[in-house]
Amino acid sequence: MTAQQENSANHHSGSRENWSARSGFIMAAIGSAVGLGNIWRFPYVAFENGGGAFLVPYLIALFTAGLPLLFLDYAIGHKYHGAPPAAYGRLYKPASSLGWWQVMVSLAISVYYAAVLAWAARYMLFSVGQEWGEDTEQFLFSTYLDASKGLDFGIVPHLFYGLLIVWAFVMLILYGGVKKGVELSNRIFMPLLFLLFGVLVIKAIRLPGAEVGLNAFFTPDWNAMWNPKVWLAAYGHIFFSLSVGFGIMVTYASYLKPRTNLTGSGMVVGFANSSFEVLAGIGVFAALGFMAQASGVEVKEVVSSGVGLAFVVFPKIISSMGSGGDVFGVLFFASLVVAGITSMVSILEVPICAFQDTLGWSRTKAVTLVCGGAAVISVLLFSTRSSIALVDLVDHFANNIGIVLGALASIVLVSWFKRPLLKNLEAHVNEVSTIRLGRGWEWMLTFVTPAVLLVSLVLVVVKLAREGYGDYPMVMQWGFGWGTVALFFLGAVLLNRLRKETDQ
Ligand code: PFF
Repeated sequence: MTAQQENSANHHSGSRENWSARSGFIMAAIGSAVGLGNIWRFPYVAFENGGGAFLVPYLIALFTAGLPLLFLDYAIGHKYHGAPPAAYGRLYKPASSLGWWQVMVSLAISVYYAAVLAWAARYMLFSVGQEWGEDTEQFLFSTYLDASKGLDFGIVPHLFYGLLIVWAFVMLILYGGVKKGVELSNRIFMPLLFLLFGVLVIKAIRLPGAEVGLNAFFTPDWNAMWNPKVWLAAYGHIFFSLSVGFGIMVTYASYLKPRTNLTGSGMVVGFANSSFEVLAGIGVFAALGFMAQASGVEVKEVVSSGVGLAFVVFPKIISSMGSGGDVFGVLFFASLVVAGITSMVSILEVPICAFQDTLGWSRTKAVTLVCGGAAVISVLLFSTRSSIALVDLVDHFANNIGIVLGALASIVLVSWFKRPLLKNLEAHVNEVSTIRLGRGWEWMLTFVTPAVLLVSLVLVVVKLAREGYGDYPMVMQWGFGWGTVALFFLGAVLLNRLRKETDQ
């Protein structure tokens, strides 16, 4: 590291806000990690990839890729005190554009994530009286989303207002800053989530037929372990689940005080996140078992993930419970909202902090301009009749290309391209942490994580090139799928210029 880099790494901490205590950081990092992914993604991925046997590749992926990358993100954010553009820029000057890439990915995710949160919040109210009626699929697509097959920018008023409320709420938290906004909201929402979800799981396992679902979920299919796809699924899930490679953990770690145990905190976050995933698997499959038994079909006939699980299957489950289902519904959708809000806050913290770092904006100005801008785009695009199609497209491209490419670039930079940086980061972590990093950590980051990320990326791109994504019209796939990726590149180049001009 040059003297100049060392200098900028050290003196930038002065005016930055800090967490009030390490527990505040841990709570916020858990709040980010525990999101919709834990509730609606993990149970399905585990079920599809060997059930109980999936825990083996999952835990191996956690220890060989998830935690090593989490430690890398922490190390970069903590040592270089900044959101990704400033932190990567101090690490290696040209890498600030990689930071802006992550900022763009975060913005893209935030605009559609808000829509899903708004739906979940509305469904929490629909649960009272089970307003979706008999046909939950028709209710979701026709009645609530008023969805069109093709591109249709007609605004659906109730979706519009829902999105406004979500953005106003999230911005209110963010205006509060690191301590009084992000930290405080996580200190309230995380215990609340564990309470809500805990009651939900207890109710679920007491339903008749719950054991059928739990058997389906946990019964191990050991043959699955010989299938490379299962391993890829485990690695793919763990990156997303721990919120690594988004720039979120770099940003959150930048608010830590100088002497903070980094690896110890990471282990707590990883353990809490994985425990919540397993708990969600139990809750979701107990409920699925109940419905499968009530309708005389097998669990595999009713299982699904994502939007389908939350907004079509769960309403059905709730309805089969009779009037007692109302409370179950409120608990389920409230859990989604609470888990999602804390993840949304974390992802917006990336661009907010990036603009504060780079342009010296105040907190209020950064929140107003960054979130205000994102909110306008979010409300205009995601309250239209095409909302669900756009959510699906942007989600697929941002997660499978945006995050993966950003994570891969950051790892290759430190473990291959600028190897001494990896040693510096390791020394930094070891100076402050209880669990020390060594050869094992270096090997994981040099071989295992880049290999897995590269293989996933190539497979995804080849598949997209051959088959496209879903059966959306080509104009939508290009405009909102590849178009989103093009925006990431554009942002990485243009916003990086902004930084350079202000530097001079
Ligand atoms: N770890 C989060 C989850 O499992 O849902 C991933 C995430 C998604 C974080 C979206 C932040 C976000 F805005």
